[in-house]
Amino acid sequence: MSEDVSFIGLGVMGYPMAGYLAANGHTVRVYNRTASRADQWISEHEGVACPTPASAATGSEVVFCCVGNDDDLRDVTLGDSGAFAGMKAGSVFVDHTTSSARVARELGAEAAKYGIEYVDAPVSGGQAGAENGQLTVMIGGKEAVVERVAPLIDCFARMQARLGDIGSGQLTKMVNQICIAGTVQGLAEALHFADQAGLDAARVIDVISKGAAQSWQMDNRAKTMIAGKFDYGFAVDWMRKDLGYVLEEARCNGSHLPVAALVDQFYSQVQALGGGRWDTSSLLVPLKHLQDK
Ligand SMILES: NC(=O)c1ccc[n+]([C@@H]2O[C@H](COP(=O)([O-])OP(=O)(O)OC[C@H]3O[C@@H](n4cnc5c(N)ncnc54)[C@H](OP(=O)(O)O)[C@@H]3O)[C@@H](O)[C@H]2O)c1
Repeated sequence: MSEDVSFIGLGVMGYPMAGYLAANGHTVRVYNRTASRADQWISEHEGVACPTPASAATGSEVVFCCVGNDDDLRDVTLGDSGAFAGMKAGSVFVDHTTSSARVARELGAEAAKYGIEYVDAPVSGGQAGAENGQLTVMIGGKEAVVERVAPLIDCFARMQARLGDIGSGQLTKMVNQICIAGTVQGLAEALHFADQAGLDAARVIDVISKGAAQSWQMDNRAKTMIAGKFDYGFAVDWMRKDLGYVLEEARCNGSHLPVAALVDQFYSQVQALGGGRWDTSSLLVPLKHLQDK
């Protein structure tokens, strides 16, 4: 069944996600801060470009959003031109930004003042997952509300699940990032060691990837790391933003995350080496840099 929906934030992720909603027959009103990108989107898809989040959200049953961080999310939701001001009571705001759980709860409470339902739904799967409509979506919100938006999320997801109330999607994404940080650092150290030991690192990976050391990172990034190529998606600047939310949440809930905290510092070294836009597997670079000294 076709629905009236909106999409705010047509970045690397949001642009193709909004495209899948349109391709599935939904009527999509879009907003992007840089208007030329919204113009580009409507030249490629059925839809309407709007000048503010509020005007994009007007009349829609469900408003999707995918912007950068907590502050960006507040910018596009609150105030006279924010999405909440345009949304009708009973409609649902679905946020795909990776944010803090704190801001999800804060905006959930704010939305409730307008009679709007709020769902936090960060994604994993990267640019390729968004472009192929194969994202994994981790969701927090009321059960009935999450069920209500599930068929729409299916347009761009291969896996979606509700993990609890508002904030639970962001907390689950934090678990995801903790796993990735430790795994990538382990792989970077392993490749560095193999090289220093005079082994053929590519051959070593071919062998050990068939055993217990195997990981998604090993299967998808080891070869590009060995080649010194770090242009494969999720950027170090984004990862530091995410680890910032992880470490803030850990301070609140009493978790001890020594490896995540350390890897966050290694990523700051990558930034200092000019690699803020390199992908997360660039943890190999500071190791090689130190070895060269
Ligand atoms: N890229 C990935 O591989 C990936 C994977 C998983 C999760 N994520 C998460 O998904 C989110 C979006 O990532 P992305 O890669 O799509 O980022 P991006 O390409 O930089 O896009 C960010 C979008 O947010 C908009 N925006 C940012 N600040 C804004 C503000 N203050 N007011 C209005 N609009 C604003 C940008 O508008 P402009 O066009 O005007 O700049 C753009 O449309 C992030 O939270 C990221 O951590 C990304």
